[in-house]
Amino acid sequence: MIGFGMRTVAALLALAAVTVDALFNPILPGFNPDPAFLRVGSDYFIATSTFEVFPGHPIYHSTNLVDWELVGHALNRPAQLSLLGTPGNGGLWAPGLRYHDGIFYLISTSRHVYTSELSLFPRSFYVTTDDIFSNNWSDPIYFDSLGYDPDLFWDDNGDVYSTWCGINDPIDKIYGIYQNTIDIATGDSLTPAQLIFSGTLPNNSSARPEGPKLYNFNGTYYLLIAEGGTGATHRATIQRGPSPSGPWENNPKNPLVYNGEDPSLAVQSTGHADILQAEDGSFWGTLLGTRPQGGNTNHAQLGRETFLYPVTWEDGWPIFNGGRPITEHLVDVLEDRPPVTDFELDFGDVEGEDLEGAWYFVRTPYKKFYSLTERKGYLRVKGNAYAIGDRDSAALVLRKQTAYNQTFETTLEFSPLSNTTEAGITIWRQDSMHDEIGISGDADGSGKRYIVTRKLEKNDQVGPWALTPANNTKATVDRVELETDDEPVKLRIVGSSTSYTFGYAEGEGEWVDVLSIDSALLSLFSDFKGTLFGMYNTGRGFPTLAPADFRYWKQYS
Ligand SMILES: *[C@@H]1O[C@H](CO)[C@@H](O)[C@H](O)[C@H]1NC(C)=O
Ligand SMILES: *[C@@H]1O[C@H](CO)[C@@H](O)[C@H](O)[C@H]1NC(C)=O
Ligand SMILES: *[C@@H]1O[C@H](CO)[C@@H](O)[C@H](O)[C@H]1NC(C)=O
Ligand SMILES: *[C@@H]1O[C@H](CO)[C@@H](O)[C@H](O)[C@H]1NC(C)=O
Ligand SMILES: *[C@@H]1O[C@H](CO)[C@@H](O)[C@H](O)[C@H]1NC(C)=O
Ligand SMILES: *[C@@H]1O[C@H](CO)[C@@H](O)[C@H](O)[C@H]1NC(C)=O
Ligand SMILES: *[C@@H]1O[C@H](CO)[C@@H](O)[C@H](O)[C@H]1NC(C)=O
Repeated sequence: MIGFGMRTVAALLALAAVTVDALFNPILPGFNPDPAFLRVGSDYFIATSTFEVFPGHPIYHSTNLVDWELVGHALNRPAQLSLLGTPGNGGLWAPGLRYHDGIFYLISTSRHVYTSELSLFPRSFYVTTDDIFSNNWSDPIYFDSLGYDPDLFWDDNGDVYSTWCGINDPIDKIYGIYQNTIDIATGDSLTPAQLIFSGTLPNNSSARPEGPKLYNFNGTYYLLIAEGGTGATHRATIQRGPSPSGPWENNPKNPLVYNGEDPSLAVQSTGHADILQAEDGSFWGTLLGTRPQGGNTNHAQLGRETFLYPVTWEDGWPIFNGGRPITEHLVDVLEDRPPVTDFELDFGDVEGEDLEGAWYFVRTPYKKFYSLTERKGYLRVKGNAYAIGDRDSAALVLRKQTAYNQTFETTLEFSPLSNTTEAGITIWRQDSMHDEIGISGDADGSGKRYIVTRKLEKNDQVGPWALTPANNTKATVDRVELETDDEPVKLRIVGSSTSYTFGYAEGEGEWVDVLSIDSALLSLFSDFKGTLFGMYNTGRGFPTLAPADFRYWKQYS
């Protein structure tokens, strides 16, 4: 993201002295849930969750809290993160981000295995680096705890506390905030785990106290948590006490944020907050929220995004955004400005052999399946036997959709010699939620080419623990014969609040739109991610030799 010029609003400087004077929420638009927030000196960092996509946990950096740039991913080596056959919404859940004694800590849980037979939480872990800009983090160091959303906290006496969301009644699914002290070198437990808090809501399975963040401000300990589940009743609440384990005094003004109180607000599902003190003493927070479209709170194809807001203090309690809901336009606080969401890359301009930055794959790739050098000027995607939607790793290169009104476009050169071979572009959210426009061939190897569209019906039964691969039997597939067997073909997916429209243009020809779908098909709420655009090549069950050569990647509003 390239920075805009700063516009100063003198009257607001008292509140926004970190030179934050213009802002448009979400600050990290698109699939960026569960933000963890950290300051080291005058550098700010945010990490978000990634579930079954690889690499895991993007790290964003800013010096003004408004302009954020991706600096790497904490889990970027297959040896750190083996998402092999991991089901949708398994993988990496909410991260924590901490700094102590010159070392950065990214704390997380990876649900490599996550099915109805095995929904047990695996042990959490942390990875470390002394140079967060190096994109070189350690291998995971595992805790002993059973749970998720781990936090690390260093007390003044040197004790290191691990705090997480654990399950205290697996039958009734009642969760609570657990804690123990650990040996930070090994992750080993030093004291027994104890339940330190059950949340502010009635103690049942809807309460879901999670995402604990522990702080010490001026000698008082604060426990900030998320409650109510990540959906419509999501909220943030805080407690304070004389020790890292409580006993806790409830903030009389809880919840700190709960947009769900007013379902007409453009931003919903606000919660999972993290706060910090800026260099100048002012306080800021991040949280996740959604921007539902088409008047339906469950229709948010971009998923959960990261929002920023000012924090002030009253009677020793933090107040988020002056006690008002978190919205896209914090006009009372900051001057508004448009977010930077366009992205354009000519693959001929890439130096080096690797795609670097905000590129993602579904699950850990078994091996590299693309090349920027075999045919200079192109991203060559080499297909394998797996198709998008298989519980494996299809040859699929992804980037997040970053605006609701956004078009994804490329030019593809592809000459398939069978009707299983297919390459093209997709709007993807999980194995059972993706729609494509691509090019395929003829069963007799005639060289004839067809535009193929594939529309999947939403399967509401497929939750986060989906056992089966994409149900391609439920796809509606259409084929239109192309005029040539060798001309480059432009492909595009035009996204709007409520639809995606798939089109192509052969050679220098005009655009032809061949399919339009309701974007609600890409917004099943129980999918924790958000949409990504992708380029793919597949043999749909068979190895394939035909390479797919893409000339550029363009996302624009
Ligand atoms: C990454 O960090 C490790 C441990 O500090 C070091 O041994 C290794 O050389 C580093 N790798 C790179 C590519 O910098
Ligand atoms: C909440 O319920 C769980 C499971 O029954 C129990 O272990 C825990 O003590 C309860 N918390 C409170 C505050 O009652
Ligand atoms: C939990 O308690 C709240 C308040 O009584 C209630 O609205 C909610 O339905 C309960 N959830 C479950 C799963 O019992
Ligand atoms: C801590 O104390 C300092 C100095 O009195 C004050 O400026 C600051 O706002 C306090 N922080 C909190 C969180 O209360
Ligand atoms: C998308 O564009 C339409 C038409 O210009 C507009 O009404 C709508 O508000 C836009 N949606 C978003 C989320 O920007
Ligand atoms: C490919 O063609 C064969 C023979 O006509 C047909 O049986 C098969 O269903 C086709 N496969 C696809 C994916 O279109
Ligand atoms: C796949 O489709 C078949 C036939 O419609 C259906 O019986 C089955 O339940 C579906 N499976 C999933 C996971 O959607």
